[in-house]
Amino acid sequence: MKMLGFEKLLVNSPWSKKRGLALAKKLLELTELGDRTDFLEIGCGNGEVSRYIAKTYMGSVTATDIDSEQINANLKSKDKTSNLTFQVADAIMLPFADMSFDVIISFGVLHHVADWQKALAEINRVLKPGGYLIYADVIYPEAISDMDRVSRFSFGLEAIDIDEINDYLETNGYKEIHSLTEKSLVCQNYEAVYHKSD
Ligand SMILES: C[S@@+](CC[C@H](N)C(=O)[O-])C[C@H]1O[C@@H](n2cnc3c(N)ncnc32)[C@H](O)[C@@H]1O
Repeated sequence: MKMLGFEKLLVNSPWSKKRGLALAKKLLELTELGDRTDFLEIGCGNGEVSRYIAKTYMGSVTATDIDSEQINANLKSKDKTSNLTFQVADAIMLPFADMSFDVIISFGVLHHVADWQKALAEINRVLKPGGYLIYADVIYPEAISDMDRVSRFSFGLEAIDIDEINDYLETNGYKEIHSLTEKSLVCQNYEAVYHKSD
């Protein structure tokens, strides 16, 4: 779901860029990457994380978002590198061949995707064996998601289920190498790094 104007302001703010970058740096340090790595970012928003990865790692970075305004803003940015491409793509229908990427990174996206189970299956499809999933999200209780759904100003908040995500990933041969849950007043912030078996 596309963001409301208020959320867009927040996602494109310097605070949000700094926060995403710090998280990406921290979680990427937990991976062991080869010389050449092909990255996919799902729901890149302001694009800061993908720009950082493209400058820091050898290989390619494909930054995607469902929102063409976000993609166009990134395409207009002067901060460019030749190994970075931006394109519109829906997490539940990724326009990539099976096993295309070594690392998939997605921050704060699945809680906006009604069929987040399908998005997870797509992540699994396009991630290479031996690859990493670097994931962070906001976990809302069902009650908040239900209230949001009937609100006039709905943010499209889905109550994603981390246990279900972990069960799916475990069944498909992933090992969790890091996870952290931080509770706040109405939601939880979750971050994790998973390694897919060869
Ligand atoms: C809360 S923002 C997070 C943006 C960025 N990852 C960050 O951490 O700053 C959520 C992003 O997910 C995108 N998004 C929502 N639904 C999506 C979908 N089905 N497929 C791809 N991107 C989606 C939104 O357009 C938005 O850019």
